[in-house]
Amino acid sequence: MRVVKSVSTMQRLARNWRRRGVRIGFVPTMGYLHAGHVSLIQRARRIAGKNGIVIVSIYVNPAQFGPAEDLSRYPRDFDRDWQLCRQAGADVIFAPNDAQMYPGQGEGRYSTYVVEERLSRSMEGQSRPTHFRGVTTIVAKLFNIVLPDAAVFGAKDFQQAAVIQRMVQDLNFPVKIVVAPTVRETDGLAMSSRNKYLDASQRPQATVLWKVIQRAKAAVKNSSRPLAAEKLRRELKAFIQRQPAARVDYIQFFDAQTFEPVRTVTGGTHIALAAFLGNTRLIDNGTL
Ligand code: PAF
Repeated sequence: MRVVKSVSTMQRLARNWRRRGVRIGFVPTMGYLHAGHVSLIQRARRIAGKNGIVIVSIYVNPAQFGPAEDLSRYPRDFDRDWQLCRQAGADVIFAPNDAQMYPGQGEGRYSTYVVEERLSRSMEGQSRPTHFRGVTTIVAKLFNIVLPDAAVFGAKDFQQAAVIQRMVQDLNFPVKIVVAPTVRETDGLAMSSRNKYLDASQRPQATVLWKVIQRAKAAVKNSSRPLAAEKLRRELKAFIQRQPAARVDYIQFFDAQTFEPVRTVTGGTHIALAAFLGNTRLIDNGTL
């Protein structure tokens, strides 16, 4: 497995592979990999086939963090990531630094961003106003550097996957976007690099995000009529906040295609939520 740090080297390699008809499967990550990422890499391996190339990028993208967020303490462990990438079947790790990705930022020599203006407005976009601009910009840049045929994203970041899918359509990137299922711990907690921040008392409480999705599913299943979204939201919020460390950021019911919020909840409605456990912000989602 090869580690590439320079943008120009990565682009040159990718161009050569594409010219020779080699399929490139791509998994963009911010590192500190877990079993969820491993499943994305394995999926990319299957897509690329045994003659293809699987590239995993590891880059903690400053542009998608707000000023008061966890950029400086975001967990990193390159040696462990390297092992996991190799075991999962990656061929290349692309691990650039900030100077490679945003040359001249702050000195006025970096000033171009990609902005999706519809799907990115609600939920994560409302709570983290510059987040999706950072995500779409870095993913567009990575696509131009790695030149993938297909890129795999996790369903845990459901809105991110939809925003990227829309960017790819709107800007005609020749990249197939694959969304792979969320991988969970045995108690239901969605795998996330940020779970590392949870202390021993917060960790069991964090399962409440998953429990609340199950609770909403049961409510929909047991009701013969559509449920009022506002009432259900209030009930679920109270359920979460029974955990002493938990504070709800948002609970949203919406149409998974349009991302428009719905007033009534039925089978097929999508739920997404964000909650703080202490200072750690976690997200999860599911179809009801
Ligand atoms: O999902 C992530 O880890 C990041 O948002 C991504 C897609 C790698 C862009 O930095």
